[in-house]
Amino acid sequence: VTIYIPRDSGALALGAEKVAKAVAQEIETRGLDAKIVRNGSRGLYWLEPMVEVATDAGRVAYGPVTAKDVASLFDAGLTSGGEHKLSLGDPEKIPFLAKQTRLTFARCGITDPLSLEDYRTHGGLKGLENAIAMTPADVVKQVTDSGLRGRGGAGFPTGIKWKTVLDTTADRKYIVCNADEGDSATFADRMIMEGDPFVLIEGMTIAGIATGATKGFVYIRSEYPHAVATMQKAVEVARKAGVLGVNVMGSPNAFDMEIRVGAGAYVCGEETSLLNSLEGKRGIVRAKPPLPAIQGLFGKPTVINNVISLASVPIVMDRGAQHYKDFGMGRSRGTIPIQIAGNAKHGGLFEAAFGLTLGEIVDEIGGGTVTGRPVKAVQVGGPLGAYFPRSLFDTPFDYEAFAARDGLIGHAGITVFDDTADMLKQARFAMEFCAIESCGKCTPCRIGSTRGVETIDKIAHNIEPEKNLALVTDLCNTMKFGSLCALGGFTPYPVMSAINHFPEDFRPTPVAQA
Ligand code: NAI
Ligand code: SF4
Repeated sequence: VTIYIPRDSGALALGAEKVAKAVAQEIETRGLDAKIVRNGSRGLYWLEPMVEVATDAGRVAYGPVTAKDVASLFDAGLTSGGEHKLSLGDPEKIPFLAKQTRLTFARCGITDPLSLEDYRTHGGLKGLENAIAMTPADVVKQVTDSGLRGRGGAGFPTGIKWKTVLDTTADRKYIVCNADEGDSATFADRMIMEGDPFVLIEGMTIAGIATGATKGFVYIRSEYPHAVATMQKAVEVARKAGVLGVNVMGSPNAFDMEIRVGAGAYVCGEETSLLNSLEGKRGIVRAKPPLPAIQGLFGKPTVINNVISLASVPIVMDRGAQHYKDFGMGRSRGTIPIQIAGNAKHGGLFEAAFGLTLGEIVDEIGGGTVTGRPVKAVQVGGPLGAYFPRSLFDTPFDYEAFAARDGLIGHAGITVFDDTADMLKQARFAMEFCAIESCGKCTPCRIGSTRGVETIDKIAHNIEPEKNLALVTDLCNTMKFGSLCALGGFTPYPVMSAINHFPEDFRPTPVAQA
């Protein structure tokens, strides 16, 4: 019998390692014929560490399991799916999972992340096999036709980016995967790298074959040591199996890749600073144009895509563009891994077709707040995303719908706040975050953010609040239109949404009467 215990960072943070040790101990003392597989997470974080057993009748889950529960789980017949107070039954029937459409995350939490055999058994490498049999232009067309857009946040059509690289002649081209997942509330990139690393390797290899690039780099943030280790091992396994190398899967295509680790700057998630960092330079933003697609890494044409964009390519190449495109709404096609975090009762990863409303995601899927208090605001799209009040909960999860309401989906991270949140403090935090993380290249961001913190502090201290509120608004306009990259350019989203949707938090507090 196989017992699955996640090695995902989220599960490890909740004690999965101790659980794994206790399970191994019980197997030994009881002399059982059972093996442990350290899988990825299914993404139901309030139930982690979630232990699963593969029984004849299918998977049976238990959670959240602590090391102390392990002996009683075995007493209850864990290895045959016995009943226990932590029983969750068939994990696929847990509403949070049952309601999802898992295309990109289809294998995450199910397979052994480092077993290529398991990967193949669960449909892996079919997309790559199809891509090898096609012309590069046809692969690019398929990705374009699928409607897949950049999941890092900007939503630029992936196929069009690839076409620019394909059409640019050069002696060398690169595929760079942006795994510097710096947005607050986001963990989709990490989960896939830890839980299904081969899908990213497959996606990058397809990108290489489609554009004529022979070398890839995955730039992972240093805060993700487990993802780094898993990716490194997976690359070695793939290379040994001939999935990477001079003859990819026995074809004449050459593609290999390396893992690189960042040093902790948020701005290195911005594509041009990331390229500078990869080249060994200071992570400072480059002016665009030239686009990385034309002059990117070491001046060569470079596809730079987010982890999820690349990890979504294998399913497109396996099932076809139309299959992927059939999901979603408007110009937002396919599925998006929504990450629910902050003060959420059911925090985790929820992959769904575009189109759910924000209210459905927060109230129904996320189950409201963990504190049980009313939801006051949600920030969508990381620290540079807007705060939405309940009155905007009818907004469908769609790039254009969010933009129409002065918000953004970004990398699809949602942070939930209850009614104790002080939105002035959140606006101040946004400016402070920008001041700390600014690369310093342009004035509105480098200096504006610090002036922003000071001005918001004046409002908090009741110093000419009206005048200072007008100043912050003016400053936000300058930052929005005068910054070189999204860090300075998008900081106005959280600040102005806090001011516009929660004006009561920016009014002077009445002085208590003696
Ligand atoms: P952008 O709009 O400048 O570019 C989007 C992408 O399209 C880039 O890769 C760009 O090089 C490419 N591109 C544009 N025109 C092209 C063309 N004609 N041919 C080929 N490629 C072309 O946006 P940017 O500054 O790269 O990203 C901003 C976004 O990043 C924001 O929306 C924000 O949500 C997101 N973000 C994500 C974070 C994360 O942790 N994932 C952190 C911070 C911001
Ligand atoms: Fe650097 Fe900020 Fe300018 Fe971006 S907006 S280039 S982070 S100074």
